[in-house]
Amino acid sequence: MVRFDILTLFPNMFSSPLNQEEKLIEIKVHDIRNFTSDKHHTADDYPYGGGRGMVMKPEPIIMAIEKVRPRIGESRVILLTPQGKRFDQKYAVGLSKLSCLIIICGKYEGIDERVREYVDEEISIGDYILSGGELAAMVLLDAVARLIPGVLGNPKSAEDESFFNWLLEYPQYTRPRKYKGLDVPEVLLSGNHQEINKWRHAQSLRRTLERRPDLLEDAELSDEDLKILSGIKQELDSVKRW
Ligand code: ADE
Repeated sequence: MVRFDILTLFPNMFSSPLNQEEKLIEIKVHDIRNFTSDKHHTADDYPYGGGRGMVMKPEPIIMAIEKVRPRIGESRVILLTPQGKRFDQKYAVGLSKLSCLIIICGKYEGIDERVREYVDEEISIGDYILSGGELAAMVLLDAVARLIPGVLGNPKSAEDESFFNWLLEYPQYTRPRKYKGLDVPEVLLSGNHQEINKWRHAQSLRRTLERRPDLLEDAELSDEDLKILSGIKQELDSVKRW
């Protein structure tokens, strides 16, 4: 069971897509504005020193962290910001093993620096600027939640997929067998599971080599894999030469 506490100025953005399957995960969305103490519920203010945009005030965010944090050490406080460490599948696997994640959605214009004293880690979902951390939080939540055993229904399926062992997924087909002159590869119709698995693995290697060769540097490759890859490389080189 993993609990996610999301601190945001836009709680309505989280109303539907979060499917809390079979209570294996618990998601609570907290409106930072509820932790303000003035009658206007001010959550942001002008930056000291001047400049564009508004900066999120420290007190409401820190009050919210202190309210939702069960005990220090048992929870991880995460700030979503383009300044953070880049999120990837390995990162998601690490987070899926924790029991309590407190996720602060920052506004892109800024957040009072003193909030960082209460943050364990800062995460960016990629090198682009979103207007706030909310969409980033949903990305993180989805990627982490689906790794929790049972959340996908089939406990093995998350492991079978792309990136788990740092290879892209093989091509998939369903009915019909023939469609506008495009046929399903014969081997998939053979019923020979050993051959099918071999074909799929070779396709994964090919896709990864063609599209994301950088991933092969981290992949665990057997001697057989290296042989397959060098065969594909030779094939690609000879095509280039022609
Ligand atoms: N907030 C704005 N842009 C972001 C990004 N790329 N990742 C995480 N949080 C963000």
